[in-house]
Amino acid sequence: MSAIQTILVENRVFPPSEAMVKSAHVSGMEAYRALYEESERDFEGFWGRLAKEHLVWAKEPTQVLDESNKPFYKWFADGELNASANCLDKHMGTPVEHKTAIIFEADGGEVTKITYRELLDRVSQFANGLKAHGIKKGDRVLIYLPMSIEGVVAMQACARLGAIHSVVFGGFSARSLQERIIDGGAVAVITANFQMRGGREMALKAIVDEALALGDCESIKNVFVYERTASTYPMTAGRDKTFAQLLEGQSTDCPPVMVDAEHPLYILYTSGSTGKPKGVQHSTGGYLLQAKLTMEWSFDLKPEDVFWCTADIGWVTGHTYVTYGPLAAGATEIVFESVPTYPDAGRFWQMIERHKCSVFYTAPTAIRSLIKAAETNEKVHPKNYDLSSLRIIGSVGEPINPEAWVWYYTNVGGERCPVVDTYWQTETGAHMINPLPGATPLVPGSCTLPLPGIFPAIVDEAGEELPDGVGGLLVYKRPWPSMVRTLWGDPERFKNTYFPPEMKGWYLAGDAAVRTIGDSYYRVTGRTDDVLNVSGHRMGTMEIESALVAKTDLVAEAAVVGRPDDVTGEAICAFVVLKRPVPEGDEAKAIAKELRDWVSKEIGPIARPKDIHFGENLPKTRSGKIMRRLLRTLAKGEKITQDTTTLENPAILAQLGQTY
Ligand code: WTA
Repeated sequence: MSAIQTILVENRVFPPSEAMVKSAHVSGMEAYRALYEESERDFEGFWGRLAKEHLVWAKEPTQVLDESNKPFYKWFADGELNASANCLDKHMGTPVEHKTAIIFEADGGEVTKITYRELLDRVSQFANGLKAHGIKKGDRVLIYLPMSIEGVVAMQACARLGAIHSVVFGGFSARSLQERIIDGGAVAVITANFQMRGGREMALKAIVDEALALGDCESIKNVFVYERTASTYPMTAGRDKTFAQLLEGQSTDCPPVMVDAEHPLYILYTSGSTGKPKGVQHSTGGYLLQAKLTMEWSFDLKPEDVFWCTADIGWVTGHTYVTYGPLAAGATEIVFESVPTYPDAGRFWQMIERHKCSVFYTAPTAIRSLIKAAETNEKVHPKNYDLSSLRIIGSVGEPINPEAWVWYYTNVGGERCPVVDTYWQTETGAHMINPLPGATPLVPGSCTLPLPGIFPAIVDEAGEELPDGVGGLLVYKRPWPSMVRTLWGDPERFKNTYFPPEMKGWYLAGDAAVRTIGDSYYRVTGRTDDVLNVSGHRMGTMEIESALVAKTDLVAEAAVVGRPDDVTGEAICAFVVLKRPVPEGDEAKAIAKELRDWVSKEIGPIARPKDIHFGENLPKTRSGKIMRRLLRTLAKGEKITQDTTTLENPAILAQLGQTY
């Protein structure tokens, strides 16, 4: 039976091996509890101690937490440091200087390695190039690059100057890019001519040109282009420069600009339940502390490890566990340009074998799609590869179902490697709730216990705490150093979204969760707002609805909901009322395709609806409210058993049941 589809009730507990306990940074549950208790007993002392131990400061902070302007918390506010110096300079003169920092594997399999020394030189030279174009502390720089050493260099170079990067995932459209340029007021874009994915060349620079041509992007003075491929592309004289032109004559020596711990390191846009994407703003000191710390706590990083986080730098996981955490921890890390299914679905396993990866970190969606592939094609099953280098395997981005967990543990981890299921968010900056590999007994499908210094609780709608066994809303009762500081340019939205009045000043995560009776292990079950999690990517239903109704020649009204999907976790389903009679057959298929293409163009291919349903109206109550729970039932292809007596027009349910 398929490992993806069976509903497994998994009650087994997997304790860490003795060897793992012995060698781990946090060795055994006693050690975990001691740390946790220290953080409870002396919250500020705990974080203050770690900040001194894990970061290199130009000026050591004397303050830990400043709560004078809640919920705009400040951490280590009078300290000064530089993020890039903490990732690179600090390793010079140590054994890490000539260690491999990045093993880059390109789409076609070519490998490039770069040491910490070389990376520091490249980052410094790049920073000097940016500086020569007037980019300085506090300026926003938009980065739209493929997974590459260049991507890491560009981000680190911004950090070196105190410039604030805003990375946009390469799968977003020109319109999304323009929105983010305007919202952040970026002064430059760093992009590539093309990106390579699965043997195909895909334009990036052309999309930047299109975004700038949409208008209101006057803040952009320069576009810097990494020539990833030899193919030609249009350049605008004066504005556009190749990387070669940017770097020409620049020295490889660039002193890092020391900034306050609270200085914004970056903005990263993520979907919310309403309106446009939110610019999550992260700090330098607090963020970096937890990025570095969790490399040791969650991944038990050792000097000889080869770490691989498969996330793109366009997402928070790529920020924390590709660009900052591994380098701050002095790790050798793999950066992979392409997709797990090219040239076949054995690519991840082949790369683990090839590079002797020891800590592997990926998303449940990738695992589920590789299970599917291995079930249909023996050749790409992990058993055909030597995965004995693996020590620890991690999961991130969405709930991992017990079936996928057990498959991952058995077939990839060889029943030897702990599965570290990490629950966190763009807004939290770093891991929040997850097992520690040398301490926490594992339960498939549970992210287990909070990290030391993190104080979650489960509450009801009124903010009242709930006991173990009762599901509710996940909150955090105390702030933490790597938390979101504000939403760029919208402090009101920050307050309303994360600190609504009924939550008593606690941070509201937007997720539902429950703790198991007995061990108080957390299980996060999904979002409580109108945010979908599709392949581990957050998508706002309202965003997709707005995109659909923006097709004014065709669409009168649209509602978007999610439905469960075997591989992608959730799938996007759009219910559409057209400005013409309800189509059928080939006509309906053609219009559905037109709408999918339109959404891809408006937001990006990741927002493409999987199912489209047409009807002459949407199910509404007499007061005109769309009944989304009915749509969710229809999206699943199930019969309506709910009460529909309050429905204005029950007849349309049959119409809307059809999927295109
Ligand atoms: C979900 C990604 C269950 C959750 C780091 C959260 C998870 C949202 C897990 C954040 C996990 C992430 N178990 N759910 N281990 N990890 N989520 O901002 O709904 O892209 O709120 O950050 O993903 O997604 P984001």
